Amino acid sequence: MRVLAIETSCDETAVAIYDSELGLMAHQLHSQVALHAVFGGVVPELASRDHVRKLLPLIEATLKQAGIDHAQLDGVAYTAGPGLIGALLVGAAVARSYAFARGIPALGVHHLEGHLLAPMLEADPPRYPFVALLVSGGHTLLAKVAGLGQYQILGSTLDDAAGEAFDKTAKAMGLPYPGGPALASLAERGRLGRYDFPRPMLDRPGLDFSFSGLKTAVVVTLRQLQQGGAPLDEQTRADVACSFQEAVVETLTAKCMRALKQTGARTLVVAGGVGANRALRARLLSMGEQRGIAVRYPRPEFCTDNAAMIAYAGCQRLLAGQQDDLQIRAVARWPIDSLQIPQVTTVSSN
Ligand code: KG4
Ligand code: ZN
Repeated sequence: MRVLAIETSCDETAVAIYDSELGLMAHQLHSQVALHAVFGGVVPELASRDHVRKLLPLIEATLKQAGIDHAQLDGVAYTAGPGLIGALLVGAAVARSYAFARGIPALGVHHLEGHLLAPMLEADPPRYPFVALLVSGGHTLLAKVAGLGQYQILGSTLDDAAGEAFDKTAKAMGLPYPGGPALASLAERGRLGRYDFPRPMLDRPGLDFSFSGLKTAVVVTLRQLQQGGAPLDEQTRADVACSFQEAVVETLTAKCMRALKQTGARTLVVAGGVGANRALRARLLSMGEQRGIAVRYPRPEFCTDNAAMIAYAGCQRLLAGQQDDLQIRAVARWPIDSLQIPQVTTVSSN
């Protein structure tokens, strides 16, 4: 089965084509970073309008990259949620109409399921069951993944997501949007251990996270350092960034270790935008080496939002016989543990 996938849940317009025999055939992405940068964050209405402008040309470019035409597709998958409702609606309307016009099935895919299954796109995919750490701008969760649609949530954030903490802290430090990667690269020039920020909820049992207190601790420290009004020198800023990043990395690593112990799983998968963070990757890899745990990442471009992960997840579900009716599905909120487990049936290829 060959699936066209569309992802428009936030500020990236992305299209991919995945073939169940050949693997990923093509993927294209248009980032709206430049569009939103002047506002210091994503402006939902501008995001929707840009998806309208970019989506159809991107579909054509993806087909061209794959070397196929419209008639050689067997299904369409699209991100139906969670995300910005206007942005989701653009992708959902195009995907559903496209599938209707071509007489092929369409399926709305859960954005986080896409992230959880993104490592399956790699040459040596992890085996079920595994523990997944999903750390993105909107979500932070630990889940036991036993198979397609079998996601047991072990812990999640009580307030800010890890990416949100990076973004808000970056903003407080006056770094440009998007803050997460900017803060991470500043942190790379910093010295470890200069500031002692809290490791949220590490002293308590359980697998939940909380990051808003950490962000506040950084803001308070910045205020103290800036008494007298003089701007901070670059090394001090880098040291603060480094200590903040260290607190996040240590917290996430410790919770991953707990989750692996609790479930007995021997594989850890890291997904979502913060999974691109180099310090986090290095720490989790060394934790894995010490404990005989396989630590797997999607390649960095599939950690952040992309359509390849939606194509993969959609293809597996379409292959299992799942498909939507003619409704255009878009939901801003959609709990991942409410997802159905597809019943494997034999389906024809059209
Ligand atoms: O998964 P994603 O692309 O979008 C969501 O679904 O949220 O994640 C984006 C998040 C943003 O908060 C961004 O700041 C963060 O991932 N991020 C990073 C890095 N690259 C992206 N955070 C820390 N270090 C990075 N290198
Ligand atoms: Zn995402």
